[in-house]
Amino acid sequence: MRIDPHSVTDDAQSVIQHFTWRARVDFAQRRLHCEVTLRLQAPTAAATPLDLDARGLDVEAVTSAEGAPLRWAPLPTDAVLGTPLRVHLPAGVGALTLRYRTSAEASALQWLDAAQTHGGRQPYLFSQCQAIHARSLVPLQDTPSRRVTFDASLEVPAGLTAVMAAAPRPRGADGRFHFEMPQPIPPYLLAFAVGDLACKALSPRSQVWAEPGVLERAAWEFAEVERHLHAAEALFGPYDWERFDLLVMPPSFPYGGMENPRLTFLTPTLLAGDRSLVNVLAHELAHSWTGNLVTNTTAEHFWLNEGFTVFAERRILEALEGPEVAALHAALGRKELDAAVARFEAAGAPELTRLRTKLEGIDPDEAFSVVPYEKGYLFLRTLEVALGREAFDGLLQRWLAAHRFQAADTDDFLRHVEAQAPGLLARVDADRWLDGAGVPDNAPASGSSRLEALRRVVGTLPEVADTAAWSTAEWQLFLDATPRTLGPARLAELDARFSLSTSKNAEVLCAWLTLALQSGHLQVLPTAEAFVSQVGRMKYLKPLYAALPREDARRLFAANRARYHPIAQQVVAGLLAKP
Ligand code: BES
Ligand code: ZN
Repeated sequence: MRIDPHSVTDDAQSVIQHFTWRARVDFAQRRLHCEVTLRLQAPTAAATPLDLDARGLDVEAVTSAEGAPLRWAPLPTDAVLGTPLRVHLPAGVGALTLRYRTSAEASALQWLDAAQTHGGRQPYLFSQCQAIHARSLVPLQDTPSRRVTFDASLEVPAGLTAVMAAAPRPRGADGRFHFEMPQPIPPYLLAFAVGDLACKALSPRSQVWAEPGVLERAAWEFAEVERHLHAAEALFGPYDWERFDLLVMPPSFPYGGMENPRLTFLTPTLLAGDRSLVNVLAHELAHSWTGNLVTNTTAEHFWLNEGFTVFAERRILEALEGPEVAALHAALGRKELDAAVARFEAAGAPELTRLRTKLEGIDPDEAFSVVPYEKGYLFLRTLEVALGREAFDGLLQRWLAAHRFQAADTDDFLRHVEAQAPGLLARVDADRWLDGAGVPDNAPASGSSRLEALRRVVGTLPEVADTAAWSTAEWQLFLDATPRTLGPARLAELDARFSLSTSKNAEVLCAWLTLALQSGHLQVLPTAEAFVSQVGRMKYLKPLYAALPREDARRLFAANRARYHPIAQQVVAGLLAKP
């Protein structure tokens, strides 16, 4: 039986436990030439099919570990799932080897020309496997309900460095880069990058990788990583992945961060020069427990990954920067959630505002929104408020301990809560949170004196002195709440007073440009153009492309499309196709 709407993995078939992957990176053809050996948990007892997720893979040969050819065929192509493979295993087979190459359009990969990198001299390649792109690199049981260990070796052109979300092993005489992942991971956490990369130590268990020209700024921005690790361990227990290294990505990286184990990937837009955007670091670190250690069984329970992680992120932030700062982030999240819920309702898709979703036939990248993040966060806050912090902390720690290195679904969590705190679910009306649309009205509000102060100045032109101590979150709240009716003169004054158009902070700049464009203050057009021409992070592309005058949006997308990541291309194209 299939166990995940986004995978052909069948629980009646063998279980892949470990794979050995060899890949040669071919920048000219934009392909990986690969060989993978998939080791089964146990040799087959009888002849049996094995269905593997795959997308765009050119398979050259399938053999047993001893080299005997195995019968195989592609399964029908599905727009969401890809083109899976069925291999027919005879009795007694414990491992199989596939020789193949990836497609030049592999959905997990972005190939960058030298001109798209910071240094401008070497090409760059990186992977992004979440949600269901690992199958475009390796034929696997690509569902988060299965975990695998692996070892890998990458052959890259001379002068380039390969890094992987895994433990590096000494470079062989063959010049290849070797890696090993001893902890079992869900396949979406498979990750690597190749480029002109250098690293700098931040603490005994953390270093940062980046292109040489970015490295110093990156090391400064994330210098406090060990404080994050300490705060997180105090909350959630020992860090189980040995190292927490960081990789600062090229600007086209489509996300803020990706929690690849041992090597978190981070957008360079976090390099604001003042450490003001490190909540994203806290978020990806938090995934080391919520998501990477305890993993959602399928994308239908994505809130278990992201809602828990936002909750954990804000607890880390509270420990490091105090409850006021955490409350500001929560307030910002609530605003984003309300806007998303309104959008889904207007689009006639309120079912996508449930925590527990039905995603059969739906691409998880298409279903992506802030709902699992912020509604999930609020549900956990609701439980925390009802039970009391200390008791809820214990409940959470026992949840993590009970399911470490396993997958869990919404019902598993509900059973855990009911066992630990009988009656609590009914008390907070958990069913409405999980299976109802929108935000239930027992959601706790996030109040703080800084929020109150902010509320008083929204819509006015504040004095410079009043904003001197504002954090990024305060600027975002202020700009987002500014009425779109101020008019160009007032907006120009606001810009002149606070130098918003030259802000080094991508969050502030994006919030400002969105406000200005939505208010028809087209003087910012050149700045907005420069921004969407440099940055490929979807969180910024989405609001800016939506707010740009349509003609300009089309022109800019045509000019920049090839530089965006495939996922970002798809998202912006979808947005511009809407009337
Ligand atoms: N795991 C996500 C990114 C992701 C989600 C990639 C789904 C592909 C599919 C990551 O942890 C994340 O949530 N990043 C956020 C960070 C933010 C919430 C602090 C981002 O990219 O903005
Ligand atoms: Zn996340």
